[in-house]
Amino acid sequence: MRILAIETSCDETAAAVVDNGVHIVSSTVATSKTMHETYGGIVPEVAARMQLEYALPVITEALRPLGSGSMQELILRHIDAIAITVGPGLIGSLLIGVETAKTLALVTHKPIIPVNHVLAHMYANFISGKPDAETSAAIRFPAVSLVVSGGHTELYRMESERNLTWLGGTLDDAAGECFDKTARLLGFGHGGGLAIQDAAATHSGGISQFTNILPRPMLGKDHLYDFSFSGLKTAILREVTKLKDTNGFNTRSIAELSYEVQETITDVLVKKTLRAAETFGARSVLLSGGVSANMRLREKIKSRLKTLDHPPSVHVPRIELCTDNAAYIGAYAYFRGATQDWKTINAFPDLSVEVSS
Ligand code: KG4
Ligand code: ZN
Repeated sequence: MRILAIETSCDETAAAVVDNGVHIVSSTVATSKTMHETYGGIVPEVAARMQLEYALPVITEALRPLGSGSMQELILRHIDAIAITVGPGLIGSLLIGVETAKTLALVTHKPIIPVNHVLAHMYANFISGKPDAETSAAIRFPAVSLVVSGGHTELYRMESERNLTWLGGTLDDAAGECFDKTARLLGFGHGGGLAIQDAAATHSGGISQFTNILPRPMLGKDHLYDFSFSGLKTAILREVTKLKDTNGFNTRSIAELSYEVQETITDVLVKKTLRAAETFGARSVLLSGGVSANMRLREKIKSRLKTLDHPPSVHVPRIELCTDNAAYIGAYAYFRGATQDWKTINAFPDLSVEVSS
């Protein structure tokens, strides 16, 4: 089954062609990230305008490997269904993709598969990279899946590709948001978690003025699988203010604080995932979402899971599949989606990320 997938939930405009949920024929991503830099965060109005500008060129680019012809002809000839992110996300951005997908479905008579963006992230792990692959054979069930992005931090138990139970999630800010806020406070602009990872790598890893001073919230048994990062964000702000007030804000302290923030966030994420893996006897653990690109998180989760009696296999998407793109939207659509008539499709900015089997 060949799916054209479209993703416009936030500040990325993406389209991809995916075969049987596992093989990427093409994947194109345009972003308006840098346009939001001067405002210190994403401006929904600007993001929506850019979606409008990028949507058709990005879809055209994704269809290019299928041959020559109009967009309508290529879809008619080569595509079985159109997958579209319907939420959660920014309403203005979502609507551009949803209405574009509905129009394409209307003129080509192809079915639409509505996709939940947060759940879709984890299906980046099912993409094999091998053109002739038919299944994501390496993932075994039950599995535990951590989706950790700029807007979400959620843990799931997976009984099969289709059968998911939500275990818990963040009660306030997402882990990615905490990385992003820290990056801005430390002067890295829109560099986000990657900038923190790079700055942290310049610190030796030895004891510093910040060692173990940041809160690692919700590690107790009362909050088995829930997360909270707003207290950490406040603590980081306090440390940065203190450094600036005492003329201690320099390359060295920035590296030390970046290191400690990364250690703190990854400790919390790893501890909860490990707890879920142990409790449910997970045979595989899946990481996904933008923060799963973090090298320290990848390394820590692999080494800690090895200490379990029956270590599960660990699956992490290729770096370019961690952050927002449409390839995993197509993978989700294949494994979990149901086709719908275009008339019944709507955008849902607050679409729930909680599912149970
Ligand atoms: O999944 P994503 O592209 O967008 C959302 O759906 O939110 O995730 C973006 C998030 C941002 O918060 C960004 O700072 C974070 O992923 N991120 C990272 C890294 N690369 C991206 N966080 C930590 N380390 C990284 N290397
Ligand atoms: Zn995302």
